[in-house]
Amino acid sequence: MEEAKPTMAKAPVEVTLRRFELSDVDAMMAWASDPQVAAFCRWEPYESREALLAFLRDTVLPHPWFRAVCAPGSGEVVGAVSVAPTAERCRGELGYVLARAHWGRGVATAAVKRTVAAVFGEVPGLERVEALVDVANPASQRVLEKAGFTREAVLRKYIAVKGVVRDTVIFSFINTDPVPE
Ligand SMILES: CC(C)(COP(=O)(O)OP(=O)(O)OC[C@H]1O[C@@H](n2cnc3c(N)ncnc32)[C@H](O)[C@@H]1OP(=O)(O)O)[C@@H](O)C(=O)NCCC(=O)NCCS
Repeated sequence: MEEAKPTMAKAPVEVTLRRFELSDVDAMMAWASDPQVAAFCRWEPYESREALLAFLRDTVLPHPWFRAVCAPGSGEVVGAVSVAPTAERCRGELGYVLARAHWGRGVATAAVKRTVAAVFGEVPGLERVEALVDVANPASQRVLEKAGFTREAVLRKYIAVKGVVRDTVIFSFINTDPVPE
């Protein structure tokens, strides 16, 4: 009989989320200027600190729910997670991004779990968080699956990314869904 292979269970990562401050601009530059990070995102990589500072001041600080992802232990800002308003008050759109040096350790999954655990209590009227992920971005799809989201459909030719209209997977998490351990 074949012996069962030992599996290495990944230890849960304890990230924290907090509001951004203007002084986070340099930490943010680590991912915002990285073309590999921006590849599946609707924004272009930032080429100057000044442009990113303006985005922080004009968009991030007044945003209803835009949080810095802080690494376990050091508290260093390593990414961002947001839930943006949509045309319907009951629905918000999730976005997340992580500096490349921190990929592959469960940080994004932990940040998304913390988001859905907190956001329904913090945004009045919110009942559904949805995420739109490029079909060619399996790491991001996996993050959502691990965080308890439901994969609903593939929306064909749905979003233009860097000038190319892409097929997109839509995921959702509603306020009665359980957050996985
Ligand atoms: C997508 C992103 C947030 C993932 O962050 P992360 O902290 O590395 O994610 P996690 O470690 O929590 O989980 C990644 C999962 O994807 C898996 N994965 C990574 N690359 C993969 C690939 N090419 N194919 C299949 N699965 C892959 C990992 O193995 C892991 O799953 P596992 O725990 O079952 O092994 C990060 O890569 C990123 O910032 N990318 C650029 C921005 C982006 O795409 N944002 C999302 C827009 S919708």
